[in-house]
Amino acid sequence: MNMNRGWFIVFEGCDGSGKTTVSQGVYQNLIDKGYPVIYTREPGGIDIAEQIRKVILDPKNTEMDSRTEALLYAASRRQHLVQKVLPALNEHKIVICDRFLFSSLAYQGYARNIGVDEVLKINEFAIEGHMPDTTIFLDVLPEVGLSRISTRTFKDRLDQENMDFHQRVFDGYMLVNERFGQDIVKFDANRTPEEIINDITAYIEKLVK
Ligand code: TMP
Repeated sequence: MNMNRGWFIVFEGCDGSGKTTVSQGVYQNLIDKGYPVIYTREPGGIDIAEQIRKVILDPKNTEMDSRTEALLYAASRRQHLVQKVLPALNEHKIVICDRFLFSSLAYQGYARNIGVDEVLKINEFAIEGHMPDTTIFLDVLPEVGLSRISTRTFKDRLDQENMDFHQRVFDGYMLVNERFGQDIVKFDANRTPEEIINDITAYIEKLVK
């Protein structure tokens, strides 16, 4: 075990990659096996960040500027990190977090065309060097993800973006993978949730031993 703190484990992927189902399944497996673990998500996870999430994702906010959007994600990230993630890591817990920095680099930096370096800069201010110990990327083609979310009854402001945007998010993640590949582990997300969940649980158990 990492001697000074717990383990910060982030799940990343396109919309419809199964990220939420899989990360919650992995969390449940770890709980059942007796690990000290918490589950959280971005944007959100605590009251202030959930309030910011509502503003970002409200389909009514059609006038939101891309840089405003990036700043709001970074603000919610900062508050969530300070108020929830770091205290849990200091208690030597495993933190399972649905999305983190690489989402901002793929969605705002690349898909929204702000530039990965620009978005990285404001996030460096927000996270002060606190990077995940590992990032699990659920690898599925954007058209598969999009067909999965097409059945959702409520679509938030980002879900409502077109196929072109979701293709760009996927390309953005590929770019992030090239740049930060040593910190990212890809898992084939075209399998059944059970197979993926068991595979990732085994990976995490090996990591934290
Ligand atoms: P979720 O659907 O995984 O809960 O995430 C909400 C949306 O926010 C999703 O479309 C991805 C998007 N997002 C960003 O664009 N940038 C970010 O930094 C984060 C954390 C999420």
